[in-house]
Amino acid sequence: MAENRIIHDEELREQEEAIAKIRSMNDKYTAETGRKRKYFILTTGCQMNSHDSEKLSSMLTDMGYEHTDVESEADFILYNTCCVRENAEEKIYGRLGYLKYYKEKNRDIKIALCGCMMQQETVLDKIKKTFKNVDIVFGTFNIYKLPTLMLTNMETGETVFDIWQEHGEIMEDFRSIRKIPFKASVNIMYGCNNFCSYCIVPYVRGRERSRQPEDIIKEIKELAAEGVKEVMLLGQNVNSYGKTLEKPVTFAELLRQINEIEGIERIRFMTSHPKDLSDELIAAMRDCDKVCNYLHLPVQSGSSAVLERMNRRYTKEKYLDLVAKIKKEIPDILISTDIIVGFPGETEEDFQETLDVVDKVGYSTAFTFLYSKRTGTPAAVMEDQIDEKTAKERFNRLLEHVNAGVERISETMVGTVENVLVEEINRQDKNMLTGRTERNSLVHFEGGEELIGQVVPVKITQNKIFYLIGERM
Ligand code: SAH
Ligand code: SF4
Ligand code: F3S
Repeated sequence: MAENRIIHDEELREQEEAIAKIRSMNDKYTAETGRKRKYFILTTGCQMNSHDSEKLSSMLTDMGYEHTDVESEADFILYNTCCVRENAEEKIYGRLGYLKYYKEKNRDIKIALCGCMMQQETVLDKIKKTFKNVDIVFGTFNIYKLPTLMLTNMETGETVFDIWQEHGEIMEDFRSIRKIPFKASVNIMYGCNNFCSYCIVPYVRGRERSRQPEDIIKEIKELAAEGVKEVMLLGQNVNSYGKTLEKPVTFAELLRQINEIEGIERIRFMTSHPKDLSDELIAAMRDCDKVCNYLHLPVQSGSSAVLERMNRRYTKEKYLDLVAKIKKEIPDILISTDIIVGFPGETEEDFQETLDVVDKVGYSTAFTFLYSKRTGTPAAVMEDQIDEKTAKERFNRLLEHVNAGVERISETMVGTVENVLVEEINRQDKNMLTGRTERNSLVHFEGGEELIGQVVPVKITQNKIFYLIGERM
């Protein structure tokens, strides 16, 4: 499949028809048994995958399925997979092994697999050989086809594989079902062109392509009309948004337009690649009152030599200069990051540079990962792969530095008043509410259910390092 696939109206109509057919089968089942068929989705991976799962949930709901969090009572089980690290894949194989026995007991259930893992030949081979009980397998470029794939499987009884190697046109008008009604994710772009040498994402998500700004604005206006207050703009590298559009638009311009949308109170985005973060974007973040003073800025390593081998295209100094520039324009900003430990050839000195960046920047959160070798990426064949013991030992030392920084930052918040968007009743204590500050810190405070979905001022009284305790003002 060399050329790009184009999704025609015809194909979309086919999906609608398949949805209607499955819905009538499910309605008939409900009329006969008094029970609705249920679906269960397991999502591993990043927010892109979670958002795809929200779209898949919406399709399954249209087909007449009811959602369940209990896998054992589901009629349709879908795993939306990630392959960024090996342990994410192992987890899926483990669960599939378990499902084998489970399906033998209950022949009526259907098992479907999708997501990034399925874009790899080796994975497909393993599924074909070892997990013959799987009914439907599709990839990251054709999630909209779920209804017809389900129908084909029901009609033929055969396993359906549909994996594209190329992406089609960007699909618009996808509905999605959100867990939190007033917070929504919005894709602004798909794919990635950066080819960091350790990373599999460009191979499984395809080349970078941006949605038209008008489509994004339209979607966010509709979300605002539904009561959404906070949007998370998603892309693997949002700072290069719009560059490939016929009429190029910058990410900063897009933010300024979204900032004008009535009803939206908070705008977040991820992920920002340091090499593409422009002065124009910093100015837009500073000027736009709805854009949160929070930035996820993955550093990956503090060593310029390692960064070069990672193909990140910035140095330690450039990264630190960038952070200084951002802090100067937006003094109260909080920054989070991703760090990989044990990249091939990483020496103790290289690792010390990473600790130095952590100490200097002071991250409010850091997602830390042990390097995981991904077949097909340039780093997988680099010499000097680091042994597990050394990597783990460094990882633990890194955590100590990260946690010390997090504690320092949390401490500065005690005594301040933060605006908290209340998300839910606290899971441990029914009298408490849980929400997030503009700068993404987790806060628990006493209050009633009626505050869910509202932004309320909360005085921070205690620092618990990874969360804060407060009192409503
Ligand atoms: N596009 C985003 C990140 C997407 S993947 C960015 O560039 O920042 C999320 C994180 O997973 C990465 O930031 C990186 O820290 C981590 N990661 C990616 N590949 C990895 C690998 N092979 N081993 C360990 N961690 C990895
Ligand atoms: Fe992976 Fe790098 Fe692209 Fe992020 S920017 S998805 S780390 S290749
Ligand atoms: Fe994983 Fe795919 Fe996201 S590999 S990190 S789910 S883009």
